[in-house]
Formats: sequence, structure tokens, C-alpha cells
Amino acid sequence: MDRIRIVGGAPLEGTIRIGGAKNAALTLMPVCLLTDRVVTLTNIPDLADIRTMGGLLEHLGVHVHLNGADSAEGRILELDASGLKETTAPYDLVRKMRASVLVLGPLLARHGQARVSLPGGCAIGTRPVDLHLKALEALGAVIELQEGYINARVDGRLKGAHVNFPKVTVGGTENTLMAATLAEGRTVIENAAREPEITDLATCLTAMGARIKGIGTGTLTVDGVDSLGGVTHSVVPDRIETGTYALAAAATRGRLTLTGTRLNLTEALVDHMRQAGVVVEDGTDGLLVDATRGDVRGVDVMTEPFPGFPTDMQAQWMALMSTASGASMITESIFENRFMHVPELSRMGADINIHGGSAIVRGKARLSGAQVMATDLRASVCLAIAGLAAEGETIINRVYHLDRGYERVEDKLAACGATIERLRA
Ligand code: UD1
Repeated sequence: MDRIRIVGGAPLEGTIRIGGAKNAALTLMPVCLLTDRVVTLTNIPDLADIRTMGGLLEHLGVHVHLNGADSAEGRILELDASGLKETTAPYDLVRKMRASVLVLGPLLARHGQARVSLPGGCAIGTRPVDLHLKALEALGAVIELQEGYINARVDGRLKGAHVNFPKVTVGGTENTLMAATLAEGRTVIENAAREPEITDLATCLTAMGARIKGIGTGTLTVDGVDSLGGVTHSVVPDRIETGTYALAAAATRGRLTLTGTRLNLTEALVDHMRQAGVVVEDGTDGLLVDATRGDVRGVDVMTEPFPGFPTDMQAQWMALMSTASGASMITESIFENRFMHVPELSRMGADINIHGGSAIVRGKARLSGAQVMATDLRASVCLAIAGLAAEGETIINRVYHLDRGYERVEDKLAACGATIERLRA
């Protein structure tokens, strides 16, 4: 297994291009199952999770063509589901990535049936799909759980319905929205997730001919249509990659310009960074993050659905707070058990105590490099940030987690003055 070696202590300085959002691409790719026309996605990031979703779509009979050129527009992915031959997403493909469950709604809406392996447990807590299933049942699907599979079918078309999510769910909103576009009549989705990835999905579906109102709000109204056409759509910039490099700049007291991204995708994080004393400005060249002028102060955060502070930035924020002056309280309200990075940060000298769903972080002037273990995607990049800020050598084991969500992370950081290399197994 590959490892990453970092020698920390140097401020990051330079420019990093931000790619298309992994989580947006993972819901835009199954959109192709809703049409027999070609869906072309640009600004596709080159990531393991994208390849996993591509593999699953290929298994279903989708013709998947990825243009490998690393142009300024990112990669281009063409998806053609006109020759679909299969409606089962098997365990071996689904277990690699939870987002595989996003094929369920589109398969059901257009092909009247779907058999998708239950995603099962995951390192950051039990992540059920009960809300996805309840919403699809409200639209008329008959769903049974058998032998670890979700068996879903509908006679004729799905029917528009009123869906009120008791809890905000990103994936549940995506599955329901995709399914509702081809349902008969009107669907109203209340307490819908408002993440930029949902807005991107709704924008793409609209360009294909879907009729959706309330995009960007907590109530989505969908008037079903008989069929959807093809589309060329550019994937929204990755706000989590943006925030991750912004925090790496801050933790090393450096200065980075982030291109290909926008401040309005990540306002909650930027507000907190400014409170901590970091300069963040929307410049002509991109987002400027500057922590060279002063001290970074401890600031409390609580994770919340968008537009609140993202759970996917919690671990990286903790890495910064470990180097801040003063204490901060970090409360995780979306996922249970999302503090696996804490013992690893502690190995690097961080002073963190967990009390239930909150962690108290007492900042230190300097962390020290250590051997650490990546446990999930965001936890692993938090350790990279800590390693860049720390004195001495850090070795991160199990970096395959990092490759699921960050494209060429070591190249991007090395170009900005970091001493970082991949140690191949
Ligand atoms: C998505 C993101 C993930 C992010 C998360 C929250 C993708 C591919 N992944 O995950 O990076 O951390 O949003 O912003 O976009 N829940 C239920 N029942 C359900 C569905 C969810 O109880 O049927 C719970 C979950 O356990 C969790 C909460 O709802 O506690 C939010 O989960 P959800 O928004 O659905 O996350 P994902 O879509 O899986």
C-alpha cells in the first residue's frame, strides 16, 4: 500500500487549480440512466471514486468514454445509456463506494426496476438509506430488502407525491429528485438538501428538459416529463477541495491563490477562517488565502447541512485549530463517530479531548511529525495538513483513502513549496 511522506514546517506559497466536485460528479453520472441520449460532463476530476462509478455504469451497459486530456476544462466524460442491459448494482461494486446507491432512483424511474446492493456500514458511522427508500415508496415504488439487496420496482411510471424529509439528506434528495423528473405529475420535496451539488444536479436536469422549481431552496417542486434529452454540463468546482487547500495555507501560515473555484460555494468556512484571523479574498485570479500576516486564533464550529459548516471540512478544521492560539470546540452534528482522526492528530502532539459529539482542541505552537494512519477520506487529508504544519517527518499510511477524493494531491502541494512524496508500495 502506498504511503505519503511529508517534511513539514514550510509555509505554502503559490497557486493551485481546483477541480470539479467529486460529490457533484457522482450524482451527475447516474443522470445518464434517465435518457437514451448522450450526457457529456466536463470538468470531471480524475479520482478513484469517479472510476468506481464509471465501472458500475459500464456494468449496467452504459457506454462510458473518458477523454483523458488534462485541459483547463478538466476531463470530459461521455455517457450513453441507450444500450442499457442490466438493472442490478452488485455488492462488489457498491461496497467500494456508498454513492453507488444513486443509481437506484434513475433506474427505477426510467426502467421500472432496480436491484441495488445495500451499501452497509462505513467508517464514519452507520449510514442508512431508509430515507431514500421511503421517498421512492411515496412515489409508488414497491421496495423489498432481500439477501442484502434493495429490490425496487414500479408498474408503469412513478407517480408524483409529497415527500417531507424528517432529516436533511444529500443522497436522499438526489435520488428523489432524479426519480421525480420522469414521474407522472407533481412531486414536492420538502426539507430538501441545499448543497451546491444538488443545485448543480437540478441545473443539469433542467437543461435536459426537466421541470424543477425552487432550485437552491429547501423546497423543490418537480413536474414530471415523459422523457429527458441529452446535455453538456460542466461540473461545479469542488468546495471541499477548495476549503482543504485554504486550510492547508492557513495551517502552514502560508499564502495560496486557488483558481477555478468561487467563494460563494464555501461561505461558512470562509466566515470561520476570517474570525480566526486568516485573510480570504475573492481576487481576479481566484480565491486568495493569506495567513502570513498574523496569528491564527481558536474558533468554535458546529457542522450543519448547507449553508452551515460542512461535515466534510470538520477534520481539516481540527488540523488548523490544533495549531491555533487558544482553544476551540468542534461539534459534529451530521455523523456519529467522525472523530477517528483525533487519536492520529494526538500522535502528532495535538491536545484534543472528546466529549460526546464535541471535541475541545487546545492549540499548540508546533505539532511534531509522526507515523499516522488514514482512516477515511477527509481524515487522511487532515493528517496531510497537520504534517505540512508540523516540525519534522510525517508518514501517512493507507493513502488510498486520499486518492478517492483528491487529485494529484502531492503534485499540487509540492508545486507550492511542500516537501511531500508518495512512497510506492
Ligand atoms: C453526502 C456526501 C458526503 C457528506 C454528506 C453530508 C456524497 C457522495 N457524499 O453523503 O461527502 O459528508 O453528504 O454532507 O455526496 N441518513 C439517514 N437515512 C438516510 C440517509 C441519510 O438516517 O436514508 C443520515 C445519515 O446517516 C447522516 C445524515 O442523514 O447522519 C446525512 O447524510 P446524507 O446527507 O444522506 O449523506 P450522504 O448523501 O451519504
